Amino acid sequence: MKLEVRIERTRAPKAHPPESDLGFGRHFTDHMLLVDFHDGRGWSDARVVPYGPLSLDPAAAVLHYGQAMFEGAKAIRGDDGAVRLFRLERHCQRMASGAPRLCMPPPDPEMLAHAITELVKVEEAWVPRARNTALYIRPTLVATEPFLGVRPANQYLLYVILSPVGSYYGGDTLKPVRIWVETQQTRAAKGGLGAVKAGANYASSLQAAMRAKKEGYDQVLWLDGAKHEMLEEVGTMNLFLVLGDELVTPALGDTILSGVTRDCILTLARARGIKVTERPLSLAEIVAAHDSGKLKEVFGSGTAAVVSPVSELVTADRRMIVGDGVGPIGQSFYDELTAIQRGAKRDEHGWLTAL
Ligand code: COI
Repeated sequence: MKLEVRIERTRAPKAHPPESDLGFGRHFTDHMLLVDFHDGRGWSDARVVPYGPLSLDPAAAVLHYGQAMFEGAKAIRGDDGAVRLFRLERHCQRMASGAPRLCMPPPDPEMLAHAITELVKVEEAWVPRARNTALYIRPTLVATEPFLGVRPANQYLLYVILSPVGSYYGGDTLKPVRIWVETQQTRAAKGGLGAVKAGANYASSLQAAMRAKKEGYDQVLWLDGAKHEMLEEVGTMNLFLVLGDELVTPALGDTILSGVTRDCILTLARARGIKVTERPLSLAEIVAAHDSGKLKEVFGSGTAAVVSPVSELVTADRRMIVGDGVGPIGQSFYDELTAIQRGAKRDEHGWLTAL
């Protein structure tokens, strides 16, 4: 399914920020994509328009009952200067498969990928050139019907904004992060929204993240909501551990987001012949592996973060120092994945689409 995308160009293009200081999600391009949905009519009026505030009725359902979800993908400028989209279809499929959990209409993945491609074509000059930068693509789906009864809305807005970004945690090189293992609060419970990229999951993570930040940690590792014994995810990243000669990540379920970068790392690791396991992982197992010297490396993966080494995992009563900062396996996946993204290594898995 393809929707025709109308394009209205800005008359007031913005100055581009310096590529040496992009940060993450601070700058936005000149245009955005909007698509409406009405029950009975379906998706309509796909349009690229000048970037600017949205006009929403104060009764819009999203502002009251939180029917909202988003995606995060990237367009990357290769060493040859060409712009490529990285696994855009898969991000669009994830949005489509998550929307029904929030009773929102799933955008057709092909329609969404096509419309996003049209937007990125308009903003091609905004894709930065410096190493380790990208144009971050943020599709967002919100309920717009003005109605205060509690039921799924019958009107939605799908919009896509673009942000030229540097590295998520700042700095040029891989910076190891310190992680607080949260045993009081819960990000997601069984049967809840954890596997969906719902704004609500991020709202529920903020208080513990703030508490951890005050104590000097970069991120929170979430455990299962029932007993706080099993590892889940970091919220902005999935987690990988090197236990002896095995690369392990928590098995997916309805509390863990099925990360696209997670899938890339599993694919690359299997292609290298590394022993890879997706399985339940308990905190007790990690503590024992740390104490026996079997815990060699920990790193997170995510579209924004790419691959992010973890130097410390800290609980209320244990401080586990992992390796000596940036481990070789995490570094090698970062190098391989970013080389594929910028066209410097052959795209054997068909992850890139030319603009
Ligand atoms: C991403 O990696 O794209 C994310 O959505 C994580 C975060 C920045 C919310």
